[in-house]
Amino acid sequence: MREEKLQELLNSLSMTEKIGQLVQVPGPVLEAQGQELGIRDDLGISEEIIRNVGSTLNVVGADQIRRVQKAYLEKSRHKIPLLFMADIIYGFRTVFPIPLALGCTFDPKLLKELCAATSEESVAAGAQVTFSPMADLVRDARWGRCLESTGEDPYMNGRYAAAMVEGFQEGLQEERAGKGMASCVKHFAAYGAPEGGRDYNTVDMSERRLRQEYLPSYKAGVEAGCEMIMTSFNTVDGIPSTGNKWLMDDVLRKEWGFEGVVITDYAAIAELIAHGVAQDAKEAARLAMEAGVDIDMCTGCYANNLEALIREGAIDEAWLDRAVMRVLRLKNKLGLFEDPFRGADAAREKEVFLAPGHRALAREAAVKSMVLLENKEELLPLSGEDFRGGKKIALIGPFADNRDALGMWAIHGDKSAVVTVKQALSEMLAPESLACAEGCETLLEEDYTDLTAVYAQTGKSAWNPEKRKEEMERALALAAESDVAVLALGESEIQGGEGGSRTKLTIPGDQMDLLRRVRKCAKKVAVLLFCARPLVLDEVKELSDALLLVWYPGTEGGHAVCDVLFGSREPEGRLSMSFPRSVGQMPLYYNAFSTGRPYDGRTPIRFFSRYTDCANTPLYPYGYGLSYHRAAYGPVRLDSRTLNREGEITVSVEITNESGRAGVETAQLYIRDVTGSVVRPVKELKGVCKVFLEAGEKKTVSFRITEDMLRFYGKELRYESEPGKFRVTIAPDSSREPEEEFVLV
Ligand code: BGC
Ligand code: BGC
Repeated sequence: MREEKLQELLNSLSMTEKIGQLVQVPGPVLEAQGQELGIRDDLGISEEIIRNVGSTLNVVGADQIRRVQKAYLEKSRHKIPLLFMADIIYGFRTVFPIPLALGCTFDPKLLKELCAATSEESVAAGAQVTFSPMADLVRDARWGRCLESTGEDPYMNGRYAAAMVEGFQEGLQEERAGKGMASCVKHFAAYGAPEGGRDYNTVDMSERRLRQEYLPSYKAGVEAGCEMIMTSFNTVDGIPSTGNKWLMDDVLRKEWGFEGVVITDYAAIAELIAHGVAQDAKEAARLAMEAGVDIDMCTGCYANNLEALIREGAIDEAWLDRAVMRVLRLKNKLGLFEDPFRGADAAREKEVFLAPGHRALAREAAVKSMVLLENKEELLPLSGEDFRGGKKIALIGPFADNRDALGMWAIHGDKSAVVTVKQALSEMLAPESLACAEGCETLLEEDYTDLTAVYAQTGKSAWNPEKRKEEMERALALAAESDVAVLALGESEIQGGEGGSRTKLTIPGDQMDLLRRVRKCAKKVAVLLFCARPLVLDEVKELSDALLLVWYPGTEGGHAVCDVLFGSREPEGRLSMSFPRSVGQMPLYYNAFSTGRPYDGRTPIRFFSRYTDCANTPLYPYGYGLSYHRAAYGPVRLDSRTLNREGEITVSVEITNESGRAGVETAQLYIRDVTGSVVRPVKELKGVCKVFLEAGEKKTVSFRITEDMLRFYGKELRYESEPGKFRVTIAPDSSREPEEEFVLV
């Protein structure tokens, strides 16, 4: 439809019909019949608005979407199709590793590919918009939603956000191709920095830090063309995002030129009342409208108040029109006026759900996101021949054969398709080479406040003392008979994700006890760690010969684990977040500001910026990961020590594969701005290059440095570089100090 036609359509709408376009309701509300009408009543939205709502969320499935859309259009005067949005975060039926794991791939192109694959499955299931990517920067492992972030680095997060938007939206611009879905970047802004790591808690930081570190990833998503932005639950400088005009209008619309749709997070307009910035739903609706929020997700605030606010002159009808027009434009871009069922096709679902290509991509992504944290005496890779020739593996732990280990947001995933570690190992080993035991439960009551309630809801129950004892003993007996005990341990699904904040970053339940006891009786111990966030692993590090971080690895997790365990593939991941020594170090991140009393880690004097009971450094730094090959980085070389504003200099390093195995290095460029008008971080990642090295091969890796890479928000909050000294290094992780110096003139 042409823009003029859309304008005519807008002009023909009644006030109620317009307001309807800005209201989003959960699926069951639309289909409410009989007893389900209760949900509708809770929302308090009139029948008339419900008939005219513009969008719904988390209704998926070709047949269901066709049915809901058809029923909706039959009752609709103008036949404006309903928009279907969903939380499709890291895969649809095929589930990929969690985003924090994907952040360890340092491979934005791979993320683009898997988002395109996700989009293909989702479009067949009728989804039109996904609430992804989450571009929130994370630095505090206590926050459960670290799971959904790509990590702690602004530069990488920006590249990942852009790649994900491009992947989801691939083909969207080709008119009526029915390919790609609209991507919604969230949660704008700074949702990843709640105080104390407690979800939905206050976020408060300087504008400089916000702009320098937190906003760039959302901006990268906007520049990549995302069609939608979601507000966050938190405050930004005292004002909740959902009513924050500076954020939504000045920054997002005016500075960045965003023309797409702004949607609230779930019920966030009503939450302005709980925040204490609006006295009632009407004031909340006004604040959101003034801020430039288009769609109200799942409250009655817009539905029940916009008309009165316009009538009273508190808001301008032109704002309403502008918001409605944005929604109509998105529908038009998606081709819904031509085909309201856009792509929803049950036959196509069968073709693309869990398609072999998607499964292969899931396996690839899992391999590339696993991080080898320890490998003492090169226990890994295990030799397949040894284990086909009589040696024994004891696979032990609550994640050995666990189909639930997908992370909280895999809500559309097909659990029955998940390949567990046990299953994958049984495919390759003879039965006599593999013994398996759960050993213990994932969680005990002391680990999770609401465990009893969760068990009541899910019909599960805790093991009784006899079972606990028996299972533990059985596992220990298997470990004692084995050549290698492979322990699949980790965090429970319910400890991470939204609302999954923790104060202890331990492996819960009896699992540490299991590990300690297995250590005593097994010859070798390899730990596979399943989790959604960095954990404190000091003891695990001591107790294991090999420690492989597998995160929640998705549908093909088991196969990927086998690929890495037996060395048909190398673990390629490098940490996307620093792993702490102690939870008391939170927030912990490599790119911290320099202090007036930096500590060198050695001098036994207390008057430095340090802890008296723990090192400042992480246990495993950002960017860290071992490989099966072994590479050495030579000294860093610069082709000039002077960088002119319009010019460039080249920094390079020679990397030598000193081992007899080929492998991939993830070379990382870090720069430190030595002196600025404001305090600068001790180092910042400015480039990454993955390079393949044959056994014994040497390669030179180079990066160009240009002035624009050195810009930051200085004293006057202008984004520009300042002349002076910089230090630079190219390193395998963030622990190396920038060594070579150059001057920007
Ligand atoms: C979450 C969002 C999600 C939305 C819709 C909220 O609770 O914060 O990330 O997209 O629900 O399900
Ligand atoms: C302390 C001050 C003290 C000053 C002089 C500094 O190290 O921070 O509180 O007054 O020394 O002794």
